[in-house]
Amino acid sequence: MIIAPTPQGIAEACRLLREGQVIGMPTETVYGLAADAYQDNAVARIFEIKNRPTFNPLIIHVASSDDVEKFVEVPLKAQALMEAFWPGPLTLVLKRDKNCPISLLASGGLDTLAVRCPAHPIAGRLIREYGRPLAAPSANKSTGISPTSASDVELALGNIVPLILDGGRCEIGLESTILDLSEDNPILLRPGSILMESLNAIVGPVYSLKKDHGEQISVKAPGMMHRHYAPHRPLRLNASNCREGEALLGFGDAGSLPVTLNLSEMGNLVEAAANLFQMLRQLDKDSYKSIAVMPIPMEGLGIAINDRLQRAAALEEFLDPTLHGGDHDNNSH
Ligand code: TXA
Ligand code: MG
Repeated sequence: MIIAPTPQGIAEACRLLREGQVIGMPTETVYGLAADAYQDNAVARIFEIKNRPTFNPLIIHVASSDDVEKFVEVPLKAQALMEAFWPGPLTLVLKRDKNCPISLLASGGLDTLAVRCPAHPIAGRLIREYGRPLAAPSANKSTGISPTSASDVELALGNIVPLILDGGRCEIGLESTILDLSEDNPILLRPGSILMESLNAIVGPVYSLKKDHGEQISVKAPGMMHRHYAPHRPLRLNASNCREGEALLGFGDAGSLPVTLNLSEMGNLVEAAANLFQMLRQLDKDSYKSIAVMPIPMEGLGIAINDRLQRAAALEEFLDPTLHGGDHDNNSH
């Protein structure tokens, strides 16, 4: 349902967010599908609603630059860019702080986090009033077009999301510029309305994903498997038993199998997605030789869960040796 952004409308949006629900939120770029960034289950719902076949990381929306220091390491260049362009359509990818309370699923298992402070007054009011950052991808199904009005969101997702805050037509209508500042060289991951020249003026040279920097840069592309989290221990999928020295990650009713942790005893895929990265990390310990995972059904969110597991299990095979160069080191967790 489309709701006017009155104080009551915002209060209702906050109530739903607290419950772990996902709502439509206006921003100056496109409408977002917003959830409480601290709640794994709420973040997992986003992936379910979008029908994303993989856990592409999400942008975390904050009310001001003061908020981000709790979540990420902020180098000087990032500081300068925030001063120049926030609030506004610039997303910065930064290293997660060790104690970052934001869902690992929102990072897609990476050790970085994309943060953005939207300029739309209603987004700002909602995030401030809610008091926590919101994870939000564009509010469309995976293959759809980004929505630029509340009615676009209603058409695409009206029967799934309980509330869409009406913020009128998006002024910009094009997703934010994304700049990776998690390492020394700034890298443009997605062009947007904040142009390269404007970034150059503040931080000097900015590399683009494709040419400037060759193979080093291509490993930064989101979705590239070896930037994603994979345990150090071998991973065995579709396990129907538990071998010696193995940790067994269960799903659903495990019968008499000695599961170490269970992604979801009820066999709930949203819960399993929410637990996936957290539990893989918990099992990636010296006390185990390897990790076995029980079968996850290939339906709904199970497709994304299996995609992640297969990439993690087959990690070395997937790697192009020319791209390998020490990437595992900066992927340390
Ligand atoms: O304008 C926008 O940015 C809109 C509004 C709603 O804020 N949001 C948006 O989100 O476009 P989404 O999910 O449709 O696109 C986010 C992009 C994805 O391509 C994702 O791979 C990238 O940001 N991304 C997110 N976190 C990342 C990370 N830690 N490292 C690299 N890329 C990241
Ligand atoms: Mg999108």
